[in-house]
Amino acid sequence: MNTPKEEPNDSKAQLTLVELRELWDSGEEKLRELGHLKQLPMMYQLALDELKNRIKLIQTEWQHKCGYNPIEHIKTRIKEPKSIIQKLQRKGFPLTGDSIFENIHDIAGMRIVCAFVKDIYSLLEHLEHREDLKVLEIKDYIANPKPNGYQSLHVIVAVPLVLLEGQRWIKVEIQLRTLAMDFWASMEHILFYKYDKQVPPHVVKELTEAAQAADALDKKMLRLRKEILALGDNTPAETLS
Ligand code: GTP
Ligand code: MG
Repeated sequence: MNTPKEEPNDSKAQLTLVELRELWDSGEEKLRELGHLKQLPMMYQLALDELKNRIKLIQTEWQHKCGYNPIEHIKTRIKEPKSIIQKLQRKGFPLTGDSIFENIHDIAGMRIVCAFVKDIYSLLEHLEHREDLKVLEIKDYIANPKPNGYQSLHVIVAVPLVLLEGQRWIKVEIQLRTLAMDFWASMEHILFYKYDKQVPPHVVKELTEAAQAADALDKKMLRLRKEILALGDNTPAETLS
């Protein structure tokens, strides 16, 4: 993952160091609330560790049952405190520990990169049926790509954590992508930042075309997989899912 995750809009709300200092100095109560922030990364890291272990189990079981591993790689990251504060401000939410917990869903981020689009949806279906997770929100940018061509399946899940204080459900944002989608998103991120957001129109157009090329590549690979699987028996390729 390009850690911290690509957040194309964050620069709009860039806080200067002076503004950040003012925020910290803006009152005892606020400071006390912000003190809770110290505990937050630990909780979210624990949630990521738990989720990663579960995904690893899925991988092992999948390999055993289906003969292949649908996941190419997994990356995780915890959102920087500065980005959390910027996001709260951008969205007009109060700057408190509770508000962070309620309103920011991507403090813990996991990116799962699969070889094939089909595996992404199989994985989603599995996640939706697990009793040790809650799927809270799904944004399907694969079925509905962003105008610039960005594709990924974004899923907010809640992971139960048993802490000393009791059980808490911690949110994690999972981004599921194919290798081609990940390649495009990483490139777009690099180019976007190189141009410091002032991307010339022809570059925007070509990036969108590149996303369509990545999509076409995904579709071709899926078709090839079906054909290869069909070689193993007499089932016509079209009927293999
Ligand atoms: P937030 O409230 O900021 O999370 O806005 P949102 O929920 O509308 O964001 P969305 O779920 O669409 O995207 C969140 C994350 O997806 C970003 O932080 C990026 O990691 C990734 N992402 C979304 N759009 C793009 C894009 O156009 N290019 C790239 N490279 N990444 C993107
Ligand atoms: Mg989001």
